[in-house]
Amino acid sequence: MFRSNIRTIGVMTSGGDAPGMNPGIRAVVRSALANGLRVMGIEDGYEGMLNGRFREMGPRDVGGILQRGGTILRTARSMEFKTPEGQRKAIRNLNNASIDALVILGGDGSLNGGMKLTAQGVPVVGVPASIDNDIYGSDMCIGVDTALNTIVDAIDKLRDTASSHNRAFLVETMGRNCGYLAVQAGIITGAEMVIVPEFETPFEEVVAAVDDAYKRGKAHCIIVVAEGAKLNATEIANKLEEMNLGFNTRVTVLGHVQRGGKPTAFDRFLATRFGVKAVEFLMAGQTGVMTGLNGRDIVPVPLDLVVSRQRTLSDEYMKMARILAR
Ligand code: ADP
Ligand code: F6P
Repeated sequence: MFRSNIRTIGVMTSGGDAPGMNPGIRAVVRSALANGLRVMGIEDGYEGMLNGRFREMGPRDVGGILQRGGTILRTARSMEFKTPEGQRKAIRNLNNASIDALVILGGDGSLNGGMKLTAQGVPVVGVPASIDNDIYGSDMCIGVDTALNTIVDAIDKLRDTASSHNRAFLVETMGRNCGYLAVQAGIITGAEMVIVPEFETPFEEVVAAVDDAYKRGKAHCIIVVAEGAKLNATEIANKLEEMNLGFNTRVTVLGHVQRGGKPTAFDRFLATRFGVKAVEFLMAGQTGVMTGLNGRDIVPVPLDLVVSRQRTLSDEYMKMARILAR
């Protein structure tokens, strides 16, 4: 059984890196130390937990990292941890290192892993960190705002070229099965169309949007396509090119640039608030929960809810993107 009296906490980042993880680690470490706790950093997510990659962290270990993207603890994906044997081994390693409780910063997969540990008696508080913004129970995740700013910057630049050359650009954004980044970016860059996994878009609608943009005299046509959408950016571009609708067609896959870069002010502050709150929850014995942003408040959301429910994409934003593209 795990000790209920928490003296040492472990902090780790897991899954895809997200800008703001570093400010989150800093907040966890410094607020835990301020509360008289010892902190062990776990490197490489669950992979490091399985291999005993633990290191004690003091206040200086998290100095100068607020402005750095990525994660100083590094991150990984681990197949072994998904197995019951892997989880038993991880718990044994935590016990050997006298780690009494965990703060896990990561996406829905990582939080699912955290729930498995909680179910086996390890006190866990999860912190939503993923550029995808696909986690149930939090309005925003760490990293989303920075990724969105990166996308907006890229699309603004692509628009310069699109307008200069009379081109249609298919821009693919990340998000796994979630269209949040695509629809938000579409609205705030004035894209002609947005295609997301959550809503079906017949190819005829794409053709109509491009045709319409050309006939109304637009110098460009920007279509933002979420990576998880049924219609793939390259396939759309190839078909459009064959149809000769007036614009030449190009594809830009934004890829992993969306995950890097220094966290925005919003992400630094959100991560800092989450980190401090996570330690507060642990100390109050409120475990098996995630720090969730609900309006302006940070509330505990049970991990079993977080992993069993699906976050939905607002069709209000899809409508907004459509209406404003005229
Ligand atoms: P993210 O946390 O960004 O969603 P992943 O889905 O890759 O990224 O999950 C990160 C890690 O969390 C996985 O490599 C695995 O070790 C662990 N994990 C994911 N899903 C589960 C699960 N259902 N049970 C236990 N561990 C899981
Ligand atoms: O979850 C973050 C994310 O960047 C998704 O948007 C994307 O589908 C996936 O991770 C890419 O994973 P990898 O870094 O393993 O290529």
